[in-house]
Amino acid sequence: MKKFIALVLCVLLALSCVSALAEGQKVGVSMPTKDLQRWNQDGENMQKMLEEAGYTVDLQYASNDVQTQLSQIENMIANGAEVLVIAAIEGSSLGEALTMAAENEIPVFAYDRLLMQSDAVSYYATFDNYKVGTVQGTYIKETLDLDNAEGPFNMEITAGDPGDNNAGYFYQGAIDVLTPYIESGKLVVKSGQTAFSDVATPTWATEVAQTRAENILSSYYADGTNVDVWLCSNDSTALGVENALAANYTGTYPIITGQDCDKANTKNMIAGKQSMSVFKDTRTLAAQVVKMVGQVLSGETVDVNDTETYNNGVITVPSFLCEPVFADANNYKELLIDSGYYTEDDLK
Ligand code: BGC
Repeated sequence: MKKFIALVLCVLLALSCVSALAEGQKVGVSMPTKDLQRWNQDGENMQKMLEEAGYTVDLQYASNDVQTQLSQIENMIANGAEVLVIAAIEGSSLGEALTMAAENEIPVFAYDRLLMQSDAVSYYATFDNYKVGTVQGTYIKETLDLDNAEGPFNMEITAGDPGDNNAGYFYQGAIDVLTPYIESGKLVVKSGQTAFSDVATPTWATEVAQTRAENILSSYYADGTNVDVWLCSNDSTALGVENALAANYTGTYPIITGQDCDKANTKNMIAGKQSMSVFKDTRTLAAQVVKMVGQVLSGETVDVNDTETYNNGVITVPSFLCEPVFADANNYKELLIDSGYYTEDDLK
């Protein structure tokens, strides 16, 4: 009996040591920019949830500058980070910092965007990026009733940042749904710009998307031709297209897709200026990453649900994909307000 009690005491002591170790362990969180709404939310959520779990957090935003992100991560390592969580500006540009992390045996999580061309990436947590594109493409297909309507319909495409691995998945998910209709001539892209390289938006910047949309509108739609649909990969680019339409277009307002449910775009959905968005609840992603960080640090099995999709050019990174959700003016209240993501005032 005495032996048993001693054993129980040992186990309890060991457990308390493990939880004491978790207390205050430093997690470096590197976010790309404060310019786009979602990364502010991601950073805040990560910090809050990690601190609640007892970690110390070194959170940095890199102003969309690759060199800044590189040196911020190197500083995190130098300052004793025991885990790194990185949402890269450019997935392939952080090699040196990742090598340094590997040399220091620091587990690295790719957050939302995959870290490319490195074997020093331990895990990836994101939303199902291809599915985001599928949701957008399917919305266009169903709203225009492409299988039955006569058409043709004019469509333009605005995609994301070529340096962000996600951008290709969003584009491909949508294009795979829409290609049969482009090929049959039911969807006509008057600008002729359909390849990812032609429709990409460096840094996902609203202004860049706006300038390109203005050029397309003045070159192909200034004579009163309607553009029926504008496939936009996310909300920051959709906003650029919406600004361009407001200033340069008098035809029937097009169907416009988006992603993220940014405040400005949700307001536009309510006002009828954007048709849909894809809601990716950043709280879900942050909670998942905090869980995975805890599992790595305590040597538990890490919760992943995809071990095949995300090859970064060197390794296939074990991933957890969260579910993206369709959003529009009909369900935004339930999704965004009832869930506490936004207040009514945020959307006024
Ligand atoms: C994210 C999107 C976001 C875009 C621009 C992507 O990597 O997955 O949610 O809209 O970056 O910030």
